[in-house]
Amino acid sequence: MSRKRVAILISGRGSNMAALIEAAKDKNYPAEIVLVASNRPDAAGLDTAQAAGIATVVVDHKAYGKDRAAFDGAMQAVLEQYRIELLCLAGFMRLLTDGFVNHWQGRMINIHPALLPAFKGLDTHQRALDAGAKVHGATVHFVVPEMDAGPIIMQGAVTVRADDSAQTLAARVLAVEHRIYPLALKLVAEGRVRVVDGRCRIDGTPVPDAAQLVPSDQP
Ligand code: GAR
Repeated sequence: MSRKRVAILISGRGSNMAALIEAAKDKNYPAEIVLVASNRPDAAGLDTAQAAGIATVVVDHKAYGKDRAAFDGAMQAVLEQYRIELLCLAGFMRLLTDGFVNHWQGRMINIHPALLPAFKGLDTHQRALDAGAKVHGATVHFVVPEMDAGPIIMQGAVTVRADDSAQTLAARVLAVEHRIYPLALKLVAEGRVRVVDGRCRIDGTPVPDAAQLVPSDQP
């Protein structure tokens, strides 16, 4: 089976990107990471990707001012140059135009640090604490024009501790992100995820990892 050609879009640290790169080192993994693209020239993840021998490119959004379509067009040209088949957003903190999103529909996935549809947007960990949530986590979903609203592929949960700060909670959720993102990309690259009535159906062998709960007594 030929491996799907994947680009990862980042804006910063790139720890989820690193988790995907690590998983894809296995020749049996159904996706290969051929490109990491950032909208910020100072994204730390670019160095990590280069150290792993992966091509990197910067499409600096500042060069395009308020013209989102021009930025997306430049990104699209790069993706075509590398013959990208699937896109993973990993801490990519920039809204994409409807045209770009629609072009990649069913082929672009994102990880969000909350159990969607709860806590869309930013500051998810503090907001979960403020709401008194007892369970929190992360979601991998297909990207649709509405932000943080696409069909859910996989979720991982952690129980919230009474003494959690946004930082301690973020750290436990991040560990879950690093586990579920490679699992979700594997399913998508294998063509096992179908969207029916706006919901994801996973074909083939049941995936016990599609929902994971990490109890509060685990790191
Ligand atoms: C991750 O927690 C990711 O879920 C979040 O940004 C962080 C990026 O970390 N994404 C969003 O908030 C998207 N709206 P990373 O660069 O180390 O992967």
